Amino acid sequence: MKVEGAANQYCRGPSIWDRFAHEFPGLLTTNLLINLGFPSSTHVQEDIVRMKYMNLDAYRFSISWTRIIPFGPIKTGINEQGVKFYHDLLDLLEKHGLEPYVTIWHWDTPQALEAEYGGFLSRNILKDYEDYCDFLFKEYGHRIKTWITLNEPMVHIQRGYDEGLFAPGRCSVWVNRACVAGDSATEPYIVAHNLLLAHAAAYRLYETKYKAKQQGVVGITLVTFMYLPYDSNSTADIDAAQRSLDFNYGWFLDPITFGRYPRNMVKLLGSRLPTFTQQESDMLKNTYDFIGLNYYTTYYSKNNTNVDPVHLRFGSDSHAITTRKYSEFVTASQVGSFWQFLYPDGLRLLLEYTKDTYGDHDIYITENGMGTQEDPTLTLAEVRNDTMRVNFYNAHLASVRQAMIEKDVKVRGFFAWSYADNYEWNDGYSVRFGLNYVNYTDLSRWPKYSACWYTGFCRRAQPKI
Ligand code: NOJ
Repeated sequence: MKVEGAANQYCRGPSIWDRFAHEFPGLLTTNLLINLGFPSSTHVQEDIVRMKYMNLDAYRFSISWTRIIPFGPIKTGINEQGVKFYHDLLDLLEKHGLEPYVTIWHWDTPQALEAEYGGFLSRNILKDYEDYCDFLFKEYGHRIKTWITLNEPMVHIQRGYDEGLFAPGRCSVWVNRACVAGDSATEPYIVAHNLLLAHAAAYRLYETKYKAKQQGVVGITLVTFMYLPYDSNSTADIDAAQRSLDFNYGWFLDPITFGRYPRNMVKLLGSRLPTFTQQESDMLKNTYDFIGLNYYTTYYSKNNTNVDPVHLRFGSDSHAITTRKYSEFVTASQVGSFWQFLYPDGLRLLLEYTKDTYGDHDIYITENGMGTQEDPTLTLAEVRNDTMRVNFYNAHLASVRQAMIEKDVKVRGFFAWSYADNYEWNDGYSVRFGLNYVNYTDLSRWPKYSACWYTGFCRRAQPKI
């Protein structure tokens, strides 16, 4: 959605992000509805040809629910133009030998469902989401072999139901922002619960109805920072780091592996945390063929002895104060780098933690990358000369390699975030993550130094191309 643009074309219906951008334009640096890239066939073709020349062999993208079913429930009608939109994209990928890795939900819940019953706050969404998945598996399952049910549920929840900064913009504390009155003490946990059940329903549906014939795999994309104890000699800080991991990562990975929430969450949240019935717990257990992991940085956790019961944020919920882990990797002079404190070794640690805690699963790094703040004083040549992004990828890929070699972690693929600059949620177009620079005036693409470096890396990694 944030890449393909064409928000009002091909009969697409509005998602909660379209409404959010209209209702709270002040929150967004630029207008979400600008048309970018993919609606114009010239750009999508150009992009995919460029991807091929970059020696990429896979492309991860999301399907927008409201392009397929504009109003959400299947009974309200399928949009044939939207269905064709993705077939056209798949044709191009096939033609150029790129394997599609497809995300079913990237935070863009149909606005009609938000208005009707509160979207993922209601269990009604389970049937609508499952019907949507059923349609996708039936329609595209012969072409798409890797499905990702949900993208980063934690960020959607934290920013959308606690901070009110992302759609649907709900929160209980108005911190200088126009959020919709919500209840941050309970809503995040209800939404997570329903997202987990929706994920499990999609996995089971594929398993029983499609897997034998289509031979695909279904997983989920989760994000967490790595958390390390602020003082590694302090048991209290070691426990705090574990609580941080539980509240950000285990929140999702525990239920879909073990069929229950992390014990730390159960203990600290009490009745604020919904419970699974025995049947739901059985349904949830082992519902992934692979883990999609998004990694950006690492934080320190410090035990928090001064929990403010009114300020119901995730940090206080887990009784851990987190602070960015500073690494010499990015120097202080590189002002403007998004998530300035980068820690490549954290990726190795997170991969190893995942294997040790959850077992020996296939893992894809579905996102890893570096965002830089738009700086109008720089020339195009200067922006394209992104040595620090090259260093970023070099170091993070080395960290992945180390986990694979030393601990035999089964990393099956790595997706850079991202191929090109694109819409960065409430930061609009002001933060750029691309290997390729996009000129937002004429939509021309310009490879950065990192694109050239990555091209060479992929060539060395896949000598067949
Ligand atoms: C997380 C999200 O999946 C993606 O949409 C976002 O642009 C990147 N990470 C960077 O923030």
